[in-house]
Amino acid sequence: MARRFGRTGRRDGRLRLTAKPQQGRTAVLISGSGSNLQALIDAVSAQTVALDIAVVFSNKPEAYGLQRAAAAGIACEVIDNTAFQSREAYDAAVADCLLAYQPDCLMLAGFMRILSAEFVARFAGRIINIHPSLLPAYPGLDTHQRVLDAGDPIHGCTVHFVTAELDGGPAIIRGTVPVLANDDAVRLAARVLDVEHQIYPLAASLLAEGRIRCDGDEVFLDDARLQSPIEFVDGHTTPAI
Ligand code: GRF
Repeated sequence: MARRFGRTGRRDGRLRLTAKPQQGRTAVLISGSGSNLQALIDAVSAQTVALDIAVVFSNKPEAYGLQRAAAAGIACEVIDNTAFQSREAYDAAVADCLLAYQPDCLMLAGFMRILSAEFVARFAGRIINIHPSLLPAYPGLDTHQRVLDAGDPIHGCTVHFVTAELDGGPAIIRGTVPVLANDDAVRLAARVLDVEHQIYPLAASLLAEGRIRCDGDEVFLDDARLQSPIEFVDGHTTPAI
């Protein structure tokens, strides 16, 4: 298979991502429930996303998402991270495992691992992640409670390209939800997750069709640089996609 992307280089001492995926052969990485994986599976099944989920990978053997993948007839791979001494050794094993499936891109869907710089470099510009906050606000864990504690009126989720910086890569699309007066972290998380299930297939579609790419810190949609991430509100995107 021709490699159409994945070139890397250095500019100003920083990793430069210049990928333009043009095929939808994908590895989805999970650690848990896999509801975002299910949203992708459903979108593929409904033929709204031209994705070919070649493999679902988990670092946890008990991840429920593996059952979702098996039920959909998708190959599953598990490498338990607890058996490895170092992050680098584990990530090298994961990369070798995934490369056997020749993925065009990797989609992190609740993959609860920090990726080593070496791993990210091997798949530079070909990894996207979904995070439950309006990045750059609230990287890391416990985002819903942190939003409530801060009294923010708006919350949401972000799909972004993955760099070595945790939850720090250039954002592709953000979906917003209002924070309601009677919200607790569970209710708020459920509404955000519902939006996640809408924007991750959208981002997957853009990636699979080669419409989105990143170059350094910048994201290009149909070869036009995005001044800001695509915004998803009440089922509509700005700009329209
Ligand atoms: C989602 O909230 C996602 O944003 C975060 O982890 C959660 C995974 O949920 N990265 P699921 O496994 O897809 O149900």
